[in-house]
Amino acid sequence: MNIEWAKELTGAGNGIGRELAKQFVQHKVTLVCWDIDEKGNNETKQMLEEQGYKNIHTYKLDVSNREEVLRVADKVRKEVGEVTILVNNAGIMPCKPLNEQKPDVIRKTFDVNVLAHFWEKEFILFGLLPYKFIQQVKDFIDTGLDPDD
Ligand SMILES: NC(=O)c1ccc[n+]([C@@H]2O[C@H](COP(=O)([O-])OP(=O)(O)OC[C@H]3O[C@@H](n4cnc5c(N)ncnc54)[C@H](O)[C@@H]3O)[C@@H](O)[C@H]2O)c1
Repeated sequence: MNIEWAKELTGAGNGIGRELAKQFVQHKVTLVCWDIDEKGNNETKQMLEEQGYKNIHTYKLDVSNREEVLRVADKVRKEVGEVTILVNNAGIMPCKPLNEQKPDVIRKTFDVNVLAHFWEKEFILFGLLPYKFIQQVKDFIDTGLDPDD
């Protein structure tokens, strides 16, 4: 079966996200990098392109903002195509004792680290499993034959 994987990676502008991006491109995927930090995200792309990797797309967005997630997801669909794998790595870790945490920071932590999964889930449900992919898997299971052979 010949599936062109398109991976979407959030928090690609730094740390673990950037390291994951380096791993993913080695598998010849189309990579869509999302990050609120436009500069860091573009640096990740530039770094990979300098190593000869292509098909890397960057988008600036706040994963905790539902409207923004759905708007940018739609943009990705039109400009890059359907996404087949989503890695939601973006997160914040404001490490302080509980009694020193400010209410707005607590709220933001839940928005970014928890609720973002639900906003991205909407995107997954509408686009992550495109018909062609589902059909290819179904054909493979039904017949045991590679639809591309
Ligand atoms: N580094 C660790 O030891 C460790 C341990 C446990 C869990 N984690 C988790 O792993 C993930 C990555 O950690 P890291 O160390 O690479 O962190 P990091 O701060 O180096 O990178 C996180 C990336 O997420 C982006 N980001 C933050 N908020 C965002 C938002 N609202 N929308 C879009 N992008 C946003 C940042 O701009 C950054 O590029 C985080 O979720 C973190 O909580 C990290």
